Amino acid sequence: MRYFFAALKTVYFDYNATTPLDAAVREAMLPFLGEVWGNPSSVHHVGRQARAALDDARERAAKVLGAKPSEVVFTGGGTEANNLAIFGAARLLKAKGNHLITSAVEHHAVLQCCEYLAKKEGFTLSVLPVDGAGRVAPDDLKRALRPDTVLVSVMAANNEIGTLQPVAELGAICRERGVLFHTDAVQWFGKEPFSGVEQFNADLVSVCAHKFHGPKGVGLLYIRSPLHPDPILFGGAHENERRAGTENLAAIAGLVAAMEKFIPTPVFDRAKLAPLVARLVSLVDSLPGVQFVGARTERLANTVSFLVAGADSITLLAGLDLEGVCASSGSACSAGSLEPSHVISALGVERGLANSLVRFSLGRESTLSEVERVAEILPEVLRRAQPRR
Ligand SMILES: Cc1ncc(COP(=O)(O)O)c(C=O)c1O
Repeated sequence: MRYFFAALKTVYFDYNATTPLDAAVREAMLPFLGEVWGNPSSVHHVGRQARAALDDARERAAKVLGAKPSEVVFTGGGTEANNLAIFGAARLLKAKGNHLITSAVEHHAVLQCCEYLAKKEGFTLSVLPVDGAGRVAPDDLKRALRPDTVLVSVMAANNEIGTLQPVAELGAICRERGVLFHTDAVQWFGKEPFSGVEQFNADLVSVCAHKFHGPKGVGLLYIRSPLHPDPILFGGAHENERRAGTENLAAIAGLVAAMEKFIPTPVFDRAKLAPLVARLVSLVDSLPGVQFVGARTERLANTVSFLVAGADSITLLAGLDLEGVCASSGSACSAGSLEPSHVISALGVERGLANSLVRFSLGRESTLSEVERVAEILPEVLRRAQPRR
């Protein structure tokens, strides 16, 4: 099938949504789409060949993380890693206590798990507020912890506004109180310096390949030993009885190749991105009716998000797309209605403004001339999207 898009040159500023598959990562996957096709659970030699590759992948993933191979569970992506962490840990510990804590700016793959447990399985949920930059205060966590708290989940880096959370500090508070700590680090890996999974002080850490030039539909959950969360998928003893289902070896090979290539030295190069992002920030700051959102310092190096008075995200993104520019908003649009982003609402932004979010997230292929192109068209795109001004 062939797709035809506008003749305009594409400016892809949506790397937080996904990244293109790296050529070397694709190469690393190919043997598992061809000659190595066995089921790693089969006892015969064709299966054992696949098992050896799976064991090797697990060892290499663990090495990048600074963890033990037994602490790595491969999943079908970031969403599944978060679901396994939250449902798995909460249900395991329900007899001990039924209080969960998360933050108001989590990805829905965390928030909706916690909300489900509160609504359907008798848990109580505390949602930590954030400041105007989107950061959780460690003192708020200290105040929210109770004797019956069993799990705290706070993300490492926010996907919508790029704000970094003080996860090491939050994790240390939980550890001191004997409470499990999960961090959704899906947006962290490949972007921020990483010296080993211990830096998060977390018991559970979610990773997802397609955010750093790996394939889609694969990720992993780091589970600090000896923790053994309840499974959420049943039907086999795979992944040491923590995740049933025949492993997707090609995807796992891609995840591991991407981890080795792009995590130790982050593929999102801070030095290269800094002038590009600085130019976008000064542009945003200079435009009337436009408000930068997120943290000015404690944030991902690639993300610039802003709100536009009198406009809505759908019109803004469509206007940018017509100019060949791919951007995103944190808002979910369903059946033509635009819900304000829960992240932006949590910053204390009034409802009318909250559904006008535009997020530019830059990456490996981004250039200054692309930024200049955006600087050229943005004022007119905004003007067209602001009928009320
Ligand atoms: C912070 C965060 N968590 C989880 C996810 C979900 O990951 P996946 O797309 O692998 O399911 C995303 C993806 O956008 C994300 O940004």
